[in-house]
Amino acid sequence: MKHLPVTSLLTASLLACVSTSALADVQPWADTSKPADQRAAAAVAAMTLDEKLGLVMGYTDPEQLMKEPDDIVSAAIKADVAANHIKGSAGYIAGIPRLGIPAQWQTDASIGVRVTGMERTALPSSLATAASFDPKITEMGGIMIATEARASGFNIFLAGGGNLAREPRNGRNFEYTGEDPLLTGRMTGGLINGIQSQHMVSTMKHWAVNDQESQRTTVDATISKPAMRQSDLLAFEMIYDLSNPGSVMCSYNLVNGDWACENDYLNNRVLKQDWGFKGYVMSDWGAVHSSAKAANAGLDQFTGYPCCGHHGAFFSAKTLKADIASGAIPMSRIDDMAERILWPLFAKGVVDNPVKVGPIDFEADANVSQKAAEASLVLLKNDAIDGKSLLPLAGVKSIAIIGGHADKGVMAGGGSSGVTPVGGNAVPGLEPKTWPGPVVFMPSSPVEALKAAKPDASITYISGDNIKQAAALAKKSEVAIVFVTQWMGEGLDNPLELPGNQDALVAAVVKANPKTIVVVESGGAILMPWAGKVPAILEAFYPGARGGQAIANILTGQVNPSGHLPISFPASNAQLAHAEIPGFHKPDGIRVGITYDEGAAIGYKWYDVKGYTPLFAFGHGLSYTTFAVSAPKAALDGSDLVVGGTVQNSGGVAGAAVMQVYVSPTDWQAAGWEAPKRLVAFHKADLTPGGSAAFSQKVDPKLLATYDEATDSWVIKGGVYHVRLGQASDDLPQSVDITLPDSRWSAVH
Ligand code: BGC
Repeated sequence: MKHLPVTSLLTASLLACVSTSALADVQPWADTSKPADQRAAAAVAAMTLDEKLGLVMGYTDPEQLMKEPDDIVSAAIKADVAANHIKGSAGYIAGIPRLGIPAQWQTDASIGVRVTGMERTALPSSLATAASFDPKITEMGGIMIATEARASGFNIFLAGGGNLAREPRNGRNFEYTGEDPLLTGRMTGGLINGIQSQHMVSTMKHWAVNDQESQRTTVDATISKPAMRQSDLLAFEMIYDLSNPGSVMCSYNLVNGDWACENDYLNNRVLKQDWGFKGYVMSDWGAVHSSAKAANAGLDQFTGYPCCGHHGAFFSAKTLKADIASGAIPMSRIDDMAERILWPLFAKGVVDNPVKVGPIDFEADANVSQKAAEASLVLLKNDAIDGKSLLPLAGVKSIAIIGGHADKGVMAGGGSSGVTPVGGNAVPGLEPKTWPGPVVFMPSSPVEALKAAKPDASITYISGDNIKQAAALAKKSEVAIVFVTQWMGEGLDNPLELPGNQDALVAAVVKANPKTIVVVESGGAILMPWAGKVPAILEAFYPGARGGQAIANILTGQVNPSGHLPISFPASNAQLAHAEIPGFHKPDGIRVGITYDEGAAIGYKWYDVKGYTPLFAFGHGLSYTTFAVSAPKAALDGSDLVVGGTVQNSGGVAGAAVMQVYVSPTDWQAAGWEAPKRLVAFHKADLTPGGSAAFSQKVDPKLLATYDEATDSWVIKGGVYHVRLGQASDDLPQSVDITLPDSRWSAVH
């Protein structure tokens, strides 16, 4: 690859002539024993204005860039981008070779390396891995994808999706980790920790309240500050607390009247002032609308120019120099921007560990992806027929497999997080073929995997396009498995109904053969009008590079399912907080507004407030064994609430239990809560039959508090709280009471 030698050779030749300590004398920022902020400040002090301005604007698509006037993008920048941007990747920012500062090579996204035409390993969708309820799974995934990214020449990962699934029809929910702030914090935090452990900078994105894709570049989200702090921002705060991402990507939308990338409240007040964020705010691609306003409101890097066609080069050297000259942007802000960009490059080891293109162990990486899928698939239903649960498949002699291209592979989501799979797209040619397509299927066929696992069974696949034929095949088979799919792509929201004739297909098949299993490959929640009739349902989301194998292993009992839902599945559209999404399926660019008057009552909290019973509740997930949960423990350790409990595998096979602890105030409205209960702790434990495990966790006090805008503080209202333990938000059989004292503390970290 052309780009590597530029910086690394210069650094290497410098290092060859000068010893490390002598180098540190000339370049104090090369001293690895110094803290990252000191190194960043020292490097910025040595920079010219042009060098600083070179860091704050990023580029993509050299071909388009060449068409820009030279006074906006200099000929030198054009030449550098043309030489060093990795073709087909998200973005590039030049390094400063004379100071040993490497270039920034940016790649999407949370499930793996996305470069057009480059085959790489995909994890299951982020929503899928959130269902593992095991942050070790996302951390291992983060390590795997970062290893591939570095071996592909990248040092900045545009990963870490952390928007809450406030709107179940949001077309990017598959890139996020569910509807609950604690779950999102721990699962996305795990991913970022894994990535950043490999000398990469990760973003967390899309900051903030970017909860619908319809009109995503023009929609204004209105929400009160307390509601935002207790929901969308709380999820990001938890990710931040747990993983300290080097960068935060501000989103396309407006929040309370200001674009996210020029939103003083979000970027300066919350992120930088209250949370003490030391890294840099980078824009989403093309999400900037001004120079001075954005810079002064906390945007540090304008990325992806000239992506998306509709915005100007607001952070070009020419524009910023004019703003500095007029006093619209103080010089100290430019220094701060440069220092913030350099801080994570030092802190996360990017400067000290230059990227090196190298070989990738695709087999080992696919195994990581398969393990993640096996820990994440959710068994939603497994009723007994003739006294025996339908799953796992045992002693079955003939199986009809219907639909979902299950003969070829498993579905993946579209847009900037789409990874070209190793082995190529298993089902090319499906619509949409262009952005946010193409629709990609990972070449991991559930049919082939089932045939390998069940050599004695006769397994027949049929597409399901002809419902009558499918029903006839199901009728003459012992068991039928229907694969249904729902494709999601960036920039588009989705109805919850399955597309095409899939609902009719399932209804016809289960009518023909009651022993029907449905496997769902979806971006998020879907409606299942047939759920009452179908005895067994497995939610696979988008299960990644080895998804077919993982599905087969779970259906056949080689692996015991242990995923739990990271989002509620509504029983009908009537249960949604918003009847309609403004601007849904209309051409882009219409100015619309959405008022989130449900506040922080998202997902299960909304269902609780309204008294709705969802089809499947947040946290729900079945196993082939059974677990017995003890009474919870709750105690105060100083001012901290510590909760815990014990779980025993009371069934006959090994499996993993997910214990979930929720807290309810005696009177949730008097306590100022948005809803009757909140998830405050969870723990996953692998258990052999008869085995038991105990856990104990300190509760983040913000999960017990409300945000007080007037004093910028968190407040717990003293009183009796119920601590409830179980295995789903609607299955909390055990409870204990604890009295919490009044407390109040500053929201400033
Ligand atoms: C997406 C980001 C992505 C960026 C760069 C944007 O369209 O919203 O998530 O990181 O493109 O590809």
